[in-house]
Amino acid sequence: MRIAVLASGNGSNFEVIAQAVKDKEIPAELVLLFSDHRDAYVLERGKKFSIPCESFELKEFPDKKSYEAALLKKLKDHEVELVVLAGYMRIIGEDLLTAFPNRIVNIHPALLPDFPGLHGIRDAYEAGVKETGVTIHYVDRGVDTGPIIAQGKVSVAETDSLSDLETKIHAVEHQLYPQVLAEIVKESDN
Ligand code: GRF
Repeated sequence: MRIAVLASGNGSNFEVIAQAVKDKEIPAELVLLFSDHRDAYVLERGKKFSIPCESFELKEFPDKKSYEAALLKKLKDHEVELVVLAGYMRIIGEDLLTAFPNRIVNIHPALLPDFPGLHGIRDAYEAGVKETGVTIHYVDRGVDTGPIIAQGKVSVAETDSLSDLETKIHAVEHQLYPQVLAEIVKESDN
C-alpha cells in the first residue's frame, strides 16, 4: 500500500511513522511527505528518509479549492492509496474526501468526542480531567468527528504541568499511530 503523510509543523509523528515503514513494521511504502508550510521542521526530518518531500502553501493559490486540486494532483501522481494526517492543521475539503473515501486517517491529541479542535491537550488540561488521551480516526466532513479506529488513554496527575501532559500524550501518539497504521495496511492488503 502506498502512503502519503501530510504534516504542517514539527513532524514527530511523521518521523516515527517513517521509521516504522523503514523497519518494515508498517508493511507499506511511504511515497510522499507533503507540508503546507515550506519552512516546517517536518521537511528537515523528511530529508533523513529517502522519500519525495513536497511543499506549497495555501496563500500561493487563488483559493482553497485550487490549493486542494494541486494537492490532490500530487497524491494522484504518486499513486497514493492512504493519506495519513500527522499534525496537518487544515480541514480536508470535499474534493480530497471524495477522492479518498475512508482512506484519510488523522490523529487527535484527546479522547474524542471530547476536546475536538486545535487545542485538544490544553482544553483537556484546563477542564481538569483526570484522564485524556489520543484518538486515531478516519476523516469525514466534520472537525475531528470521523469514525474512531483506536484510542489510547493518558492519566493526568495532579502535579502534571501542561508541558508534562503534552509529553505524555506525544509518547502515546508515537506508540499508537505506527501500530494502528500497520493494522490498517495489513487489513487492506488481505
Ligand atoms: C499531534 O499532537 C497530533 O495529535 C496533532 O498535532 C500534533 C502533531 O505533532 N494533530 P507532530 O508535528 O507530529 O510532532
